[in-house]
This record gives sequence, structure tokens and C-alpha cells, in this order.
Amino acid sequence: MAVIAALGGAHTAVPAIAQANSSAVADPQRWPARGHAAALDSAIEKQIDALIARMSLEQKVGQIIQADIASATPEDVRRYHLGSILNGGNSTPTGEYNAPASKWLEAADAYYAASMKPQGDLPRIPVIWGSDAVHGHNNIVGATLFPHNIGLGAANDPDLMRRIGEVTAIEMRVTGLDWTFAPTLAVVRDDRWGRTYEGFGETPEIATSYAAPLIEGLQGKLGDDDWLRGSHIVATAKHFLGDGGTAGGKDQGDARIDEGRLRDVFSPPYLPAIDAGVQSIMVSFSSWNGAKMHGNASLLTGIVKDRWNFSGFLVGDWNGHGQVEGCTVTNCAQSVIAGLDMYMAPDSWKGLYENTLANARSGALPPARLDDAVRRILRVKFRAGLFEAGKPSSRPYAGEFERLGSADHRAIAREAVRKSLVLLKNQDGILPLDPAAKVLVAGDGADNLTKQTGGWTLTWQGTDTKRTDFPNAQSIWEGIEAEVTDAGGSATLSPDGSYGERPDVAIVVFGEDPYAEFQGDRPDVGYDDARSLALLRSFRAAGIPTVSVFLSGRAMWVNPLLNASDAFVAAWLPGTEGGGVADGLFGKSEFTGRLSYSWPRSSDQTNVNLGDADYNPLFAYGYGLTTAEDGSLDQLPEERASAAPTDENMLFSGGRVGTGRQLLIGSPGALATNPAPDLITAQGADRNAQEDAVRLRWSGSGRAAVAIAQESGMDLTRQANGGLALELEFKVDKAPTADVNLLMTCGEECGGGFPVRALLTTTAETGRWTRASFPLNCFVQAGVDMSGVDAPLMLVTDGQLDLTLASARIMSPTGEQLSCK
Ligand code: BGC
Ligand code: BGC
Repeated sequence: MAVIAALGGAHTAVPAIAQANSSAVADPQRWPARGHAAALDSAIEKQIDALIARMSLEQKVGQIIQADIASATPEDVRRYHLGSILNGGNSTPTGEYNAPASKWLEAADAYYAASMKPQGDLPRIPVIWGSDAVHGHNNIVGATLFPHNIGLGAANDPDLMRRIGEVTAIEMRVTGLDWTFAPTLAVVRDDRWGRTYEGFGETPEIATSYAAPLIEGLQGKLGDDDWLRGSHIVATAKHFLGDGGTAGGKDQGDARIDEGRLRDVFSPPYLPAIDAGVQSIMVSFSSWNGAKMHGNASLLTGIVKDRWNFSGFLVGDWNGHGQVEGCTVTNCAQSVIAGLDMYMAPDSWKGLYENTLANARSGALPPARLDDAVRRILRVKFRAGLFEAGKPSSRPYAGEFERLGSADHRAIAREAVRKSLVLLKNQDGILPLDPAAKVLVAGDGADNLTKQTGGWTLTWQGTDTKRTDFPNAQSIWEGIEAEVTDAGGSATLSPDGSYGERPDVAIVVFGEDPYAEFQGDRPDVGYDDARSLALLRSFRAAGIPTVSVFLSGRAMWVNPLLNASDAFVAAWLPGTEGGGVADGLFGKSEFTGRLSYSWPRSSDQTNVNLGDADYNPLFAYGYGLTTAEDGSLDQLPEERASAAPTDENMLFSGGRVGTGRQLLIGSPGALATNPAPDLITAQGADRNAQEDAVRLRWSGSGRAAVAIAQESGMDLTRQANGGLALELEFKVDKAPTADVNLLMTCGEECGGGFPVRALLTTTAETGRWTRASFPLNCFVQAGVDMSGVDAPLMLVTDGQLDLTLASARIMSPTGEQLSCK
């Protein structure tokens, strides 16, 4: 366990050569060298030579650009010679988040056909489609969804990873897709990070032992005839490097660590990944000592390509190149010069294409580097047999939709769920439960596929999915019901915990609501859930034993809930197979899961990790009971160490503004909480409850505004890049009599926004409550500096207007999205 030993090193010897605060590798020789995994095949290299010789400059530039299917059509792929497409978490072939699998296959054919359409003498190069199949093929209705990586880490079973990789690859093949953006090999050091659940653990140990089997499951075995072919696809190791090591667990943040630590803690999983032949590596959004990874030549080229002999290609992350100093999303030769081979330019591809072409013509992007990037991408396409594979629907497994969520696939997912469960408490050996008993199943997570599958499920954030979106799944309740009924017991679902006949035991399922990426970043790791706590306590008070099943994307401080539970199971984000949870509770399987993340002792113990000098978690790394052990726990302190966090994205809801904000009205230059009523008034109004909305009336006697003002500036940069929107829920009682502008402001003389008179006039006609989403990117285009927003919402008009506002939030859009112009 050399990697574990390396962790301690952080507090002791730091190689003299590695200067803290440098963002360039000082000594590549200290990084382990890699040999010739995926050695070059001279026949392929010759084919590439011949191809490159025939390619136009436009084709070369297009080859290194990846666009999102939401903003690039098949015709765009043909015309701009785009080398790759992706579907971001919110993009689907039809625009509906739950587009049927058949539509994905049709789209794969359409993009492929466009890429292969003859164009004069130019060689035709098949497009490759990347997708985040990060816990199974999770963008597809009916797919088998596995536990997120945090649960797989607890399972500690490398062979299982191979089988999960195989299933995921086959299900991708069914829909005609070529390439997954997985596995995530992040070593996660601070559980405030919204992507904690995407990592296998807090030490490199498990990710290092999983990388090869998982990649071999996805890609096949290097050297075998069906490597990257047949039932296999292309995999990605991500996000290189240090994504899980950012200060404060901030997503897209900065890892402020020395070189030795970057190497010894964060890079080990990449070595077996490369040895196993992983064909792409995704560059991290994050920085190392202040410099963005997307521009770090010493790591991208010096380590990955030179030291590790990686022969595949480096793909960027979602406009990540635009964050490099001196770059914009549409112009960034620096990134490719540093070593990036394929830009991920979801919505920025066209401008990027034009500028990159100009850079290639001027020499700002050196021809040799462009050719090398193209060569690497072509190499992977040749290796994967894409040139002779034919259209996606003609390839192995394509269109065999019955394989999505098939019984054999689901059996593997269920096994993974069973093995991922970590038993934290088992007072007086209450588990396993008797399936012949009278069982009450309560809690808002009990019959809730949305919660149980988490982020990256049909949508980016994984929110707002419906039961019918999971035709092949079993909720935790359904799994329990099946097992109990089988055994002659009785099971009752009662989310609110009410019961007629007194049950023998109450199982309460609760936990975090889904999130993804920075949307899941938190200020601490306290879990607040007054409702579930009250439920547990009421069962306890009635003498009914309680079993808690906790769904979460991280280890969290849950002391009050632990105290109120006789047994407590950390079930993570198990995916579609709720039956696996039932297997554990009723003794069909023993609990073998062990924590791969230390469990916090307090809500502010956010970065407790094995190897810390003062290591003092509540449950240590590796902890996990079996039912044979004594699982009793003394009463734990219940005081929250940090203040309960506030929801930063909530601007206005339930009649109130979010913490740190004020609702101001008046003349735009002199806004106040309660000015003279001549220009505008604000009054509490009732929608669903008393005064849960605010009615705003503009008199028309002069320019007037309502604003939600920040006490301190808000940084919405990531939210804007991530496609988030300002979403308003409102009703227009009287249509505007003049132009109305919806603005964001960013200090004196800084601001911009949308004209909304037309929208308000049409909604006034219906008289109905309306939800409208204004993409943050449109505010950027209108000149708003997203790094310092001081009023995220301002509505201004010279005329009359009568409008009731029920809510304002920054979120992944759910309503109709307005376009910028
Ligand atoms: C995420 C990646 C993901 C990509 C494509 C990015 O925002 O960081 O993990 O693969 O989007 O969806
Ligand atoms: C995510 C994408 C997602 C997009 C939302 C990105 O940051 O990685 O997968 O679809 O934001 O528009």
C-alpha cells in the first residue's frame, strides 16, 4: 500500500526541488515513467500519414473541435469538418430530456453520415460521439444505472468494476455511441466538493486498483482483437489533474499543493489507466497553484505525453480552454500549444473554428502541433475501427434496445448496490430484519428514483425526473416490498410515516437531493433534515425500532439522525436497483461495504482524510460493520459546529429574499427598502400561502425599478458557463405600457439584460402563473461581468406595470428558455 504511505508524506518530506506555489513541474524525472502501453502500430501510423497529407487545413482544425449536439447539426459537422460531438448532461437528440433510445441511434447515424459525406477530394473522417456514461449509460431512458463512484469505492471490488464497464459499453453500443467520459479518477480531499460522489475515495488506493479493470471492461483488453470494438467503446480518464484537491473543495477551483503531493496523491490512478490503454484523458477545469490545467504544458505535454508516453488524445472540458489566461472560449491557441488535442467547445465551436483556422494560417498555432493533435485523434479513430465500422446502427449491438436494463445487466447493478452499502450502526443487532415482519417504509427517499439515482441522470443535475423515466428500475421501496411479500410479511409505504396498524419496524429512507458539479458545492458537510429527524423520533417515541437508509453523494455529519436510528446504513446514490438495499436489510447479503471516505465527526470537519496528522473522524476510512459484529453506538453530541448553510442560488422564494440580499424599489439611482410610494410599491401577496409572493406596481410617473441587491458581490461565472439561467415565476396582473428591461448589474455603470415587454404582454393575456428562464449567458453577451454581480435581478420600466413575483432562482433551466435576442 505504497500510495497510502505516500499520503503521510505530505506532512513530512517535500522534495526540495518541488517549490510550493509553482504551477510548472520542476522535476519530471521524479514522476514515474511509463513504457509503451498501446505502442504505435506502424500500419496505422502510415494510414494516418496518408490521411493527413490529404487533409485541408479546415479539416485539420475541425478535427480538433468537439461541439455539442444541442448547438451543432449534422450539417454543421459536415461543413465545418468537426471531428467530434458530445451530448452535455442536458443535451439530447430531440431536446426532450427523456428522448427514447431509438432517437439516439438515429442521431448517431445522422451525424456519422454527415461526417462521411463526400466533399470533393477531401478524405472523409468519421465523427466520434462522446457522452457522460458515468454510472451506466445514464442519459438513456431504461438504461441500467449503477451506484455512483462513491458507492463503488465502498464496494472495494475491482472485478466488479470490469463487469460494470462491460455492461456500460454494451448499453452505449445499443444507442450507437462511441466514447464515454469516464472513469473519473479524482482523489477527493474535501467533501464540500459537489463532485465528491464521482470519486471512488479520498486516497488514491481504490481509484488506482479500479482504473485498469474498469477501463478494460469499457474498452476491452489491450492487444485483443476486440479492443475498442465489438462490445467495447473508448474510455476517458478524468479530470487531469488534481480536480479533487482544490482549496475548500471548490469546483473548478485551485489545488494549492506542492509538486510531490500532486504527483503522489492525485496522479497514481492515471498510471494503471494508461497501462490499460485508456485512449483519452480529459483535462480538468481546475488550476494548480493558480494556473489553469488547460494551459499547463509541463503537465499535459511534459508528464502525460513525454513522461508517460500516452499515445491517445487529451480532450478539454466544457469550454475549459476559455478560462486560461489570455483566452476566450472562441480563441485559445495556448491550450493546444500546451498539449490539449481536442477542444470541448459545446456552444462556442463556430467562433473557435474560425479563430483557430486564423491561428493555424498565421502560425500562432504551429503546424506541427496541429498535426500532432490531429494525428492523436485519428489514431484513436483507427484503433477503434471507426473508418470501417459503417454507420452506428450497423455496428454490433446497435438497436438491440432490449439490452438496456436487461435482467443480466441489472443483476450486476444489484450486486454493486449490495456491496456498496456501509453499515454504520446496528444497535443490539437489529439488522438483519425479519422479512416476515410488519414493515413500514417511510421517508421521501423511499420510493424516489430521482433521489436514488442522483446527478448525471437523464439531466445534468438529475433533478425533475419522473418514475416513468425509469421503466426498468426498482425503487428502494419496491425492492423491500418484493422481498417482504415473498417471505410472507407485510410492507406498507408511507412517505410521511403515518400508519394504521402498528409496524414491527420502520425503515426511513432520506438524504440529499440530486446535484452535479458546482451546483453541489457546499459550505460544510452538515446534513439538515428536520422532517426525517422528526419522523425517526416519533417512531422511537412509540417504541418502534428504526432503520435509516441514507442517500448521499458524500460522507456527512448526521449525528442527530444517527442517535434517532437503531440501525443506520449509508447507501450513497445506488442507482436503479433498489432491491440491492433490501438484500442488505433483510439479510440476503451481508454488509461488506467499507468507507472509502472518512465520516465526519462534526459539520465543519470537511476535509478529514486518512493520513492527516490529527486524523479524528467519527468513522475512519475502512470502517463498516457486518451484522455479526457489535454495532451499538453511544449517544453522539448533536450540536451543529457550523451555521446551517444558506441556498446561494435562491434569490426570492416564499415571500422572502435569500440570505445576504435585499429587495429594493424606487428610482433606479436611489433604490431603497421602503421609499415614497409615488413611483413603485411592493406589497406581500398570497399565492399558495399567506404572503408567499410580492406584488409590484409601477405607477408610470417616472422610471422605476425593483431589484434584488447583494450585500456582497456574487460570482456567477461557473453558472454562466454551465448553462444555468435566472428563472422567474410570476403573474402579470396588468400588461406594461412601455418597454421593460430585465437586468443584472455588476457595479456602477456595469450591467445588461433582456427587453421583456413582449413576454410580459403575452403572459398578461393568459393571466396565468408563468415560469421563464433567462440564460445567464445572455446577460454575459449583454455586457454583465459575471464575476461581480451586485444585483442578480432588476426590472425597470418608465411605464405602468402590475406584476406579482413568486420566485427567482439561479438554476439549471426547467421552464421555457428565452433566447438572447
Ligand atoms: C464536466 C465533465 C463532463 C463534461 C461533458 C463538464 O462540465 O466537468 O465531467 O464530461 O462537462 O458533459
Ligand atoms: C456540464 C454539461 C451540462 C452543461 C449544462 C456543463 O458544465 O458539464 O454536461 O450539460 O453544463 O448546460
